[in-house]
Amino acid sequence: MATGSTGATPEAAAMKIVWNERQRRFETEDKQAYLQYELRNGGKVMDMVHTFVPASKRGLGLASHLTVAAFNHAQSNSLSVIPTCSYISDTFIPRNPSWKSVLYSKDVKSSI
Ligand code: COA
Repeated sequence: MATGSTGATPEAAAMKIVWNERQRRFETEDKQAYLQYELRNGGKVMDMVHTFVPASKRGLGLASHLTVAAFNHAQSNSLSVIPTCSYISDTFIPRNPSWKSVLYSKDVKSSI
């Protein structure tokens, strides 16, 4: 698991991340920061479509913290991940390459 090497500051790492299954989000308890996903292929593929962190909290690694929570969930539930969100494909995965093993297929975005 890549947990522990997320690059999150202590402030960001201390924020609890909640799974909001109904809205298909991983989010902070105040719901201000979130990772939005869609389920595809009968629920076996998790397409991470958008990540959002309020401007006042950016640069602390909070998006990384959210993304690790979502990847842990995918791995625990044998789901593969499509990194449609550019933050995840262009920043998170290159900085945390061990998560590549959970990707649906290299370089594939929302083409299914
Ligand atoms: N695509 C790829 N990488 C991005 C990015 C984007 N759109 N926006 C920021 N980054 C990179 C930055 O270059 C930064 O790198 P640095 O550490 O060298 O400065 C890094 O993400 C910061 O990582 P982290 O601290 O974990 O992210 P964050 O908590 O600041 O949140 C976003 C990052 C993208 C979620 C936030 O800036 C945001 O909500 N932006 C508006 C919405 C958006 O563009 N979402 C991404 C596309 S779905």
